[in-house]
Amino acid sequence: MPVAKTIARQLENASWIRRMFEEGIRLKRERGADAVFDFSLGNPDVEPPPAVLDALRRVVDGNRAGSHSYMPNPGYAEVREAVASKLQRETGLGFTGEDVFMTVGSAGACNVILKSILDPGDEVIVLVPYFAEYQFYIANHGGRMVPVETDASFLPDVERIAAAITPRTRAILLNTPNNPTGRVYPEGVLRDLQTMLERTGQPITVISDEPYKSYVYDGGRQPEVASLIANTAICNSWSKSLGLAGERIGYLALSPRLEDRVNLRRACGFSNRILGFINAPAIWQRVMLESMDETIDPAIYEQRRNILCDALEAIGYEVRRPEGSFFVFLKTPIADDIAFTKRLAEEGVLAVPGTGFGRSGYIRLSLTIPLEKIEGSMGGFGRAFAASRR
Ligand SMILES: Cc1ncc(COP(=O)(O)O)c(C=O)c1O
Repeated sequence: MPVAKTIARQLENASWIRRMFEEGIRLKRERGADAVFDFSLGNPDVEPPPAVLDALRRVVDGNRAGSHSYMPNPGYAEVREAVASKLQRETGLGFTGEDVFMTVGSAGACNVILKSILDPGDEVIVLVPYFAEYQFYIANHGGRMVPVETDASFLPDVERIAAAITPRTRAILLNTPNNPTGRVYPEGVLRDLQTMLERTGQPITVISDEPYKSYVYDGGRQPEVASLIANTAICNSWSKSLGLAGERIGYLALSPRLEDRVNLRRACGFSNRILGFINAPAIWQRVMLESMDETIDPAIYEQRRNILCDALEAIGYEVRRPEGSFFVFLKTPIADDIAFTKRLAEEGVLAVPGTGFGRSGYIRLSLTIPLEKIEGSMGGFGRAFAASRR
């Protein structure tokens, strides 16, 4: 049976992380796992906190009658209320349970909101470099991705965003702390964005994709996007904050300041349903009810960041230290990031070329790798750097 041309084309474009993953398997087979240093996947390697696993045991042992049945489309009411209370505390806004939809991760939440607001040909602004999946989430719902360059330090360039807005613009997708750059968007930039959006007078939704929100380093914190930008839809999950990426548990929350929120609520409940997800796994919704305030200490990733960045700097790389998320977006010593990625792979070091995120001349290194692997990789980073200087 032939594969659809669209999917065949998307598969071709989407293959960078997959290619590196396959390269990793091949290298591990050839050289042994000890000689491979895999910085390619952003898969949290810190286990969920014991309190979360205890809650899971209690939920399973409790096995309440009906706990495996269908539930209301947006998810369990008490879980949605609990998420809303947390958001109230964090943002100072009057979120209610009705504004919250339980979803299969932040990925599910992004798809639900996009499906709810896009007609074919509508435009969504995405900031470059971007999480590669966004192009497919937008295309899933007939939208057109409009990539807009960030400034030289990878922060949103509000004037460029303003210039990219057309009558078809329906949303701006923001991701902070950012994958792949590790930047944490400061309050001033978010305020400027709000001022600009007010000026346009167009109903543009800011989709704030926040799965790395709890990973901000050096004692900093992520300013609340929903507190600063009126028309915000929050997409979040516990994939990264609690190391639960495989459990597919997250939510979409519509800001109380969002225009036409009551109609949008109905649309989002419906979209979640007809995407086939309905909402999120029942057991994990109940676990989250008991684990709402748990987090993984970001210190472990901060320590890895420090060791990795110090060592790369010592070799001679030009390093921008990420303020948050799991990633170091490293300038490559030669302009061709794909060639440099291949050179590193010869050394057993796996990275993702920036080209996969819409920005050549960089590679993305994930901090979800043990310290001894970071230390073990430095010989390879050093030889690849030296080779680029010849
Ligand atoms: C920026 C960004 N958004 C969304 C996701 C999807 O995460 P989830 O597991 O919550 O669906 C990821 C996962 O890597 C991500 O990096």
